[in-house]
This record gives sequence, structure tokens and C-alpha cells, in this order.
Amino acid sequence: MRSLSLLLLTASLTEYASAFTGGHRDIHHDHYGQDLRRRNIVYNGQIADTYDFVIVGGGTAGLAIASRLSEDSNTTVLVLEAGDTGDAAADTINTPVNAYYHGLPGSAYDWAYTTVTQPNAGNRAVSWPCGKLLGGSSAMNGMYHVHPSKLEVDAWSSLVNGTTKWNWDALFAGMKDSETFTPPTSDVQAIVKMEYDASSRGTNGPIHASYPGFEFSTIGTWTATLANAGVAVCQDAYGGDPFGAYIATNSINPANWTRSYARTGYIDPLPPRDNLAILPNATVTRLLFDTSNAGNLTATGVEWAASADGARQTIKVRKEVILSGGAMGSPRVLMHSGVGPADVLQAAGVDVQVNLPGVGQHLQDHLSSGLLFQTNTDTAASLYASNATGNTPIFLSYVNSAVAYVNSTSLLGADGAASLKQQVADALSSSLSSLVRLARQDRSPAC
Ligand SMILES: Cc1cc2nc3c(=O)[nH]c(=O)nc-3n(C[C@H](O)[C@H](O)[C@H](O)COP(=O)(O)OP(=O)(O)OC[C@H]3O[C@@H](n4cnc5c(N)ncnc54)[C@H](O)[C@@H]3O)c2cc1C
Ligand SMILES: *[C@@H]1O[C@H](CO)[C@@H](O)[C@H](O)[C@H]1NC(C)=O
Ligand SMILES: *[C@@H]1O[C@H](CO)[C@@H](O)[C@H](O)[C@H]1NC(C)=O
Ligand SMILES: *[C@@H]1O[C@H](CO)[C@@H](O)[C@H](O)[C@H]1NC(C)=O
Ligand SMILES: *[C@@H]1O[C@H](CO)[C@@H](O)[C@H](O)[C@H]1NC(C)=O
Ligand SMILES: *[C@@H]1O[C@H](CO)[C@@H](O)[C@H](O)[C@H]1NC(C)=O
Ligand SMILES: *[C@@H]1O[C@H](CO)[C@@H](O)[C@H](O)[C@H]1NC(C)=O
Ligand SMILES: *[C@@H]1O[C@H](CO)[C@@H](O)[C@H](O)[C@H]1NC(C)=O
Repeated sequence: MRSLSLLLLTASLTEYASAFTGGHRDIHHDHYGQDLRRRNIVYNGQIADTYDFVIVGGGTAGLAIASRLSEDSNTTVLVLEAGDTGDAAADTINTPVNAYYHGLPGSAYDWAYTTVTQPNAGNRAVSWPCGKLLGGSSAMNGMYHVHPSKLEVDAWSSLVNGTTKWNWDALFAGMKDSETFTPPTSDVQAIVKMEYDASSRGTNGPIHASYPGFEFSTIGTWTATLANAGVAVCQDAYGGDPFGAYIATNSINPANWTRSYARTGYIDPLPPRDNLAILPNATVTRLLFDTSNAGNLTATGVEWAASADGARQTIKVRKEVILSGGAMGSPRVLMHSGVGPADVLQAAGVDVQVNLPGVGQHLQDHLSSGLLFQTNTDTAASLYASNATGNTPIFLSYVNSAVAYVNSTSLLGADGAASLKQQVADALSSSLSSLVRLARQDRSPAC
């Protein structure tokens, strides 16, 4: 729920996002200005020709699987990731507030997809970001760390017969194992009064789930406002019943307020492992199959390339190829390999290996939209650019160290902040007059 309040609160600042040039200043580089390199990541292109497991896509799922499989030192694991390491963008990735003001969407680390035209959104084709680097979309996402509902997970599980591996009980245990929950600081709790039940959270997993180190009092009025509007406050959003209003945790490491994501959670803390290789800049173009056993394809390797017109290279696999290229990347690899709807493959000139009509179909995603307000008042970006205030420490803590979302009083002064608040309120009133109120039964119970 907090995203909406954040959007309202920072509405006047959003459009100046691109004006920020300040990065995170607290990350140390060595004397040569180089980031220290992780030994499990292959920087020199040298890999073997056969592995037990080949993982296609070093994103959110792929890096977690790579980390777990390579715990067995007798098992060799290769990750092929289409994007780069992200080292050159570490400041951008690590600083939480950059997710909203200075993030990776639109950069070279974004696949930058566009949807087909959406009949229910005025026939617009909407931009659709997706991470293309180690960590995948977890390196660029909005860091809302939530658990899905028991209802959804069990419905999903019922699609697979004869196993309870994917039901709520099993996945809830997995969700807890993956996270380390840190309750809000007393300052933040005093302002926002989050409802949470720590017994629904993990205590020792690789990914951090915490709250920002700084919150505005406005956030504290958010759930109360929704309660007044008929959306009940959710007491334990993480135990399988997340319906209602709540303040979500963020995947932020509270030790230094940096993004906690697949790479920092699962790979960077590892000691060097001889049996694990992670190769960036390597796009898998198709799977290689043993087709000699009619009706029973076995993946024997993958084909990959360093660029669209680069030489195709092959890697052999002893055990399994694991597809973790994301909702878009995995079906694309399957379809390029001849696994998918026969008519689509044939039309594209791909030999059909398996006619599986569901591959690459039926994708759904949620929409996100922001509200922009124009202002004649000074903004964070204009102040930063003009250095009119001498860029005070409290201001720079927002720009540089991410301990705070912007504090409009300290940016604009009391009068400026009050005037901004009034402008937002006026804009809301004028918008509301043109909106139709939903009948109560039409309201969605979801948050
Ligand atoms: C801008 C944005 C904001 C988001 N905000 C939130 C949020 O606040 N909270 C939340 O819970 N979720 C959020 N999400 C969604 C969440 O990040 C994703 O659902 C999740 O990261 C998907 O994980 P994945 O492993 O399936 O795919 P990804 O993490 O996307 O990983 C797929 C990886 O495979 C690589 N790949 C693809 N094809 C190939 C190929 N052929 N060869 C080699 N590599 C390949 C990609 O480059 C990528 O690195 C957001 C996503 C985006 C893009
Ligand atoms: C990946 O490719 C980019 C662009 O060519 C290059 O700058 C970068 O060093 C490469 N990364 C690795 C790990 O080789
Ligand atoms: C790895 O294999 C060797 C030789 O087969 C065996 O002695 C050793 O116990 C195995 N190690 C692990 C971690 O399984
Ligand atoms: C699961 O079982 C139901 C009912 O027997 C059947 O209709 C469905 O096709 C099965 N699904 C799978 C994935 O096997
Ligand atoms: C943040 O702290 C963790 C330890 O909790 C450390 O591993 C990581 O490198 C730090 N990140 C940055 C960007 O300083
Ligand atoms: C398919 O081939 C694999 C590997 O050769 C084998 O393990 C498996 O039993 C076969 N499955 C069927 C249904 O024939
Ligand atoms: C802003 O002013 C401070 C103090 O006068 C100075 O140290 C700093 O370099 C200036 N920053 C920019 C971006 O001009
Ligand atoms: C904003 O910052 C000022 C100066 O540090 C502080 O006095 C004030 O309490 C902050 N406002 C909010 C809403 O936290």
C-alpha cells in the first residue's frame, strides 16, 4: 500500500527524477577505482565445456538455485546470464531510493519490453521493464517484500496433481527460509505503527525484509485513512491472509540501508566455489536435445552467444538444464528450441520438437501508474542543481545515503511544504469532483 502514498507525497518531485546526478557516496572502491570482484563470477570468459547443471538466467530465481545447488562441492553449476554484472551500476542498484528516482528501468540493464496495445488502457502500448543483469529484476524492482495469499498459492498448487510441494504450507516455509525480518526501529514504529506478526517471518534467510530507516508521519495516517474508506487494516499480512491495508516490508539490508537482492543475498557472501561459474553477457539462444528416443526429449546442453551476431557456442550438461529466464525469457528460450504452440513455431520457421500450446501464452501482469503534479516551488532537483541551500547534510542524506525519503519541510521550508500540501489537496479535490464513487459492493477487498 505504501507505494501509493509515496507517489502522492513525492508527486511534485517525480518528474525531476532524471535531474539527479548524485549517487551513493558511501561505497568504497579500491585505489584504482575498480570494484572488488567476486570470484564466483567469471570476468575472463573462461568456462568448462560440460557442467552437471546449466542455469539459464542469473536473475532472482536463477542465482538462488545456483547458490543452493553448488553447496554440494561435487556438483558443477554454470549460470548463463544475458546481461552484465551490474558492477558499473552498483551505486544505482544499492541505494534504495534510486528505485523510484534514478533506477535501472530504461537503462542498458533493462530488456525494455513494450506490451501490445491494451484495449482497456485506451489502446496504449505500455512500457514493461525487466531486469537484464545479475540479480535480474530483483536488482531493479521496487523492493516491496510481500508474501502472497494462501488462497492463490493453494489454487496454483491444485494445478499440479499428486504433490504438496507447491502448496501454501510448503511455500510458506520456503518464504520464511529465504528472509531475515528486522522489525521497524522504535522511531519508525512510533510514526507509522506497523501491524505485523513476527512469527510469520523468517529470521535467518539470505534476503532482508525490513522497513526504511526514516518514515514520514503521513505514512502513519495511511492505513487509518483506508480504514475510514472501508478497507480494513490487515494485522498479519505475511501469514497467508494479506487482504486489507498494511505497510509492506522492503528488501533493504538495515545494516547499511542498501538493496538486498538475489546477488547480494545468494552470491556475494559465498566463499569462492570451484564448482560454481556465473558467466555474464551470455544469452542462451536455444536448448539442445537428444531426440533419438521418440516422444522423450532430453536436454543435453545449451547454445549461447555473447551478442546477437556473435558466434554460437555450446555447453554440454550432465544432469539438467534449469530455465530461470523470467516470465518472458524462459518461454522464449523454449519456443526458440521448438517447444511451444506448433502453429506459432511453424509460422516462425522453427522445427517443432514438442507441440505445447500453453508456452508463451496467457501472461498477465499488474499495472502501475503515477500521478504527476507541476509546481512552481523549488524542488529537490532544482535545489540540488542550484546548490541554493549549500546542499545541507539532511538534504544530501536523501540524495546520497538513502537513509531517508525526502523530507519536504527541510527541502521547501515550512511555508513551502504547507503550500505544497495545499496544492496536492486542491488537486485531489478537483480530481475527485470528476470521479465516480464506486458502490460499496464493487470495491475490491484486495489491497
Ligand atoms: C521495475 C520493476 C519493479 C518491481 N517491483 C516489485 C516489488 O516492489 N515487489 C515485488 O515483489 N516484485 C516486484 N517486481 C517483480 C519482481 O522483481 C519479479 O517478479 C522477479 O524478480 C522475477 O524473478 P525471475 O527469477 O522470474 O526473473 P528475473 O529476476 O527477471 O530474472 C530473469 C533473468 O534471466 C535473464 N535471461 C532472460 N533470458 C535469457 C536468456 N535467453 N539467456 C540468458 N539469460 C536470460 C534475464 O536477463 C534476467 O537476469 C518488479 C519488477 C520490475 C521489473
Ligand atoms: C559485458 O559487456 C559489456 C559491454 O561490452 C562490457 O563493458 C563488460 O565488461 C562485459 N562484462 C563482463 C563481465 O565481461
Ligand atoms: C565428493 O565425491 C568424493 C569422491 O566420490 C567423495 O569422497 C566425497 O565424499 C564427495 N563429497 C561430497 C560433499 O559429497
Ligand atoms: C489433475 O487432475 C485433474 C482431475 O483428475 C485433471 O483434470 C487434470 O488434467 C490433472 N492435471 C494435471 C496437471 O495432471
Ligand atoms: C552492506 O552490508 C553488508 C553486510 O550486512 C555487506 O555485505 C554489503 O557489502 C554492504 N553493502 C554496501 C553497498 O556497502
Ligand atoms: C526419457 O529419457 C530419460 C533419459 O534417457 C529417462 O530417464 C526417462 O525414463 C525417459 N522417460 C520416458 C517416459 O521414457
Ligand atoms: C554545494 O555547496 C557546498 C558548500 O558550499 C560545496 O561544498 C559543494 O561542492 C556544492 N555542490 C555542488 C553540487 O555544487
Ligand atoms: C523534517 O526535517 C526537519 C529537520 O531535520 C525535522 O525537524 C522535521 O521533524 C522533519 N519532518 C518530518 C515530517 O519528519
